[in-house]
Amino acid sequence: MPKKQRHILVTSALPYANGSIHLGHLVEYIQTDIWVRFMKMQGHLCTYVCADDAHGTPIMLNARKLGITPEQLIANTDKEHRADFAEFNIDFNNFYSTHSDENRELAELIYKRNLDNGYIDRKEVEQFFDEKEDMFLPDRFIKGDCPKCKAPDQYGDNCEVCGATYDATELKNPYSVISGEKPVLKPSEHYFFKLSKAQPMLEKWTQSGALQSGIAKKVTEWFKDGLKDWDISRDAPYFGFEIPCAPKKYFYVWFDAPIGYMASFKNLCAKRDDLDFDAYWNEGSDYEVYHFIGKDIVNHHTLFWPAMLEAAQFRKPTAVNVHGYLTVNGTKMSKSRGTFIKARTYLEQLNPEYLRYYYAAKLSNCVEDLDLNLEDFAARVNSDLVGKVVNIASRCAGFIKKKYAGKLSTTCTEQALYDDFVKAGSSIAELYEQREFSTAIRQIMALADQANQYIDAQKPWVIVKEEGNEQLVQDVCSVGLNLFRVLVCYLKPVIPTLTEQSEAFLNIDAMHWQSINAPLLDHTINKFKPLMTRIEKDKVDAMVAASTEHLSANAEKEEKSVTTEKPGHDSNSEKIADEIEFDDFAKIDLRIVKIIKAEHVEGADKLLQLTLDLGDQTKNVFAGIKSAYQPEDLEGKLTVMVANLKPRKMRFGISEGMVLAAGPGGKDLWILSPDDGAQPGMKVK
Ligand code: MSP
Ligand code: ZN
Repeated sequence: MPKKQRHILVTSALPYANGSIHLGHLVEYIQTDIWVRFMKMQGHLCTYVCADDAHGTPIMLNARKLGITPEQLIANTDKEHRADFAEFNIDFNNFYSTHSDENRELAELIYKRNLDNGYIDRKEVEQFFDEKEDMFLPDRFIKGDCPKCKAPDQYGDNCEVCGATYDATELKNPYSVISGEKPVLKPSEHYFFKLSKAQPMLEKWTQSGALQSGIAKKVTEWFKDGLKDWDISRDAPYFGFEIPCAPKKYFYVWFDAPIGYMASFKNLCAKRDDLDFDAYWNEGSDYEVYHFIGKDIVNHHTLFWPAMLEAAQFRKPTAVNVHGYLTVNGTKMSKSRGTFIKARTYLEQLNPEYLRYYYAAKLSNCVEDLDLNLEDFAARVNSDLVGKVVNIASRCAGFIKKKYAGKLSTTCTEQALYDDFVKAGSSIAELYEQREFSTAIRQIMALADQANQYIDAQKPWVIVKEEGNEQLVQDVCSVGLNLFRVLVCYLKPVIPTLTEQSEAFLNIDAMHWQSINAPLLDHTINKFKPLMTRIEKDKVDAMVAASTEHLSANAEKEEKSVTTEKPGHDSNSEKIADEIEFDDFAKIDLRIVKIIKAEHVEGADKLLQLTLDLGDQTKNVFAGIKSAYQPEDLEGKLTVMVANLKPRKMRFGISEGMVLAAGPGGKDLWILSPDDGAQPGMKVK
């Protein structure tokens, strides 16, 4: 019985038209695309829209710097983004721009309704003004000394050194990032959205099941102090939409950005007979709307956006699905380490479906960050996709083609096994729908193992040599190819290109979720061509090399990258770090430990792997002290470690702390050795 067809509108956050798509962004677009493709395979009317987020000061200034108009800049980016998304198989039904007629009309409509319903306020505010540039300065364009810790060159909204947040007007010695001049305070009238008025509605809506539980909880913290009204206007010059009846005042980019979801959909509705804008967006609609976003823009999507919609008599989203941030090799993406990788740089070296598969294998429906460990990436893809899935087809296809003119058997000799594969589909489907992709992939790979075990046990390449086995070989290979077909069907949302090539090879129509209910019998397949090759390490290395930028010391600081435990050769000349409070120091748990094992790490030229005895437990630590010690010199020695350092995934494994060493580096580096009488586990005072 066919299930009820659902009407579903899905969005990913709109990328800024101010930069290239990188592997971090792709976590979101790949996650959303997999979900949408799955929903489409289920037969639902699922529509996926996106757009470039084209407004705001950075885009205006960037265009100015390039000597082009903002319109030219966003047109260039539009082309680049579309090409990147297309090659990664991100299959938007529409990709549009927030700088469009539809968006202007909808922004004006929503604003007008917000105004009529009493949600808009006007207030005079004092802001920094750059007299040389004749413009008000957004927080990110003012720098100065942090009011808390005095660190120089901090942005107008928060300090990257001590983490304090403050108003730009609190900065000491402020200067304009654009002109370098000292800004002056100047009053200006601003328009505010009365978020406070929407608070009771938001308290209900955010706890109604529309958000993941962790996010719902986080949001309640924001309610505690009462929601502050939200400044939705900016003064000219600004690249955006002018506010009706407010000359020289513009909508703040974050006001019209989410409206861009609606605008992109509206633009699509004009081209399609089966989509009715009002049916999706009017208050009370029972169609579904889902937003996929990263954890950095939760307040915009769980507070501002539903409040704007409510105050304009539109429906609110069915759910907002939040994902975590991408790290590469265990830390934040970094230009100096070559791990800030653009979509294009990746595509120059590697097959996009490798990344789609790897992300799927790591994604779940929680907000945790996910790590792209480049070594694990290659190993996982090679072992799963190439070694397990594609291998089934390549082991069976040749026999069928050569010996049976491409014809599969007329009966399925392993119906029970085949039925097990079909049955697994309902649990896998449920996992896809719940965005538990990693578990879905694990179940699919368990099936792939089963299929390989079957072929290993039957050994068609052996029995083919014995006479009288003609039928058996055909049957075994037919079963193998039928199991392969089921696996590829289940993987279709993740690796659509490989699936398409497999459909061509199997000589079948494009599969939907139910296509595999019965095996292919008495059916002619086409010639097998290799479907996917292994990831080669030199391609990955080339991608990292092409992404490596040598940054100035300052720019590196800005990357805020986590420091590695590299013993710096110039450590003597390093500046003493900023003062910390005693409380910060007291958090560090220093322990005496005994090095019970020390080993070389294959492929690492600086690291030794240490097994440390803490008295009641052992820990594994990778220490960059190979230049100074042979493993055998260390075994049995006592040293001091930071025992409560959060475990960190490194290329070679998980490091569960750090051992303390001192010296200028190279050969001259000494681990701290406590005096006699010390015992493993003792606290260092
Ligand atoms: N323009 C806004 C969104 C407006 S939506 C109405 C924006 N753009 S963005 O280009 O900075 O980010 C687009 C999406 O990519 C966001 O959901 C963001 O969380 C996600 N990511 C950007 N960098 C990311 C990682 N390093 N890791 C995972 N997702 C990341 O925000
Ligand atoms: Zn500070």
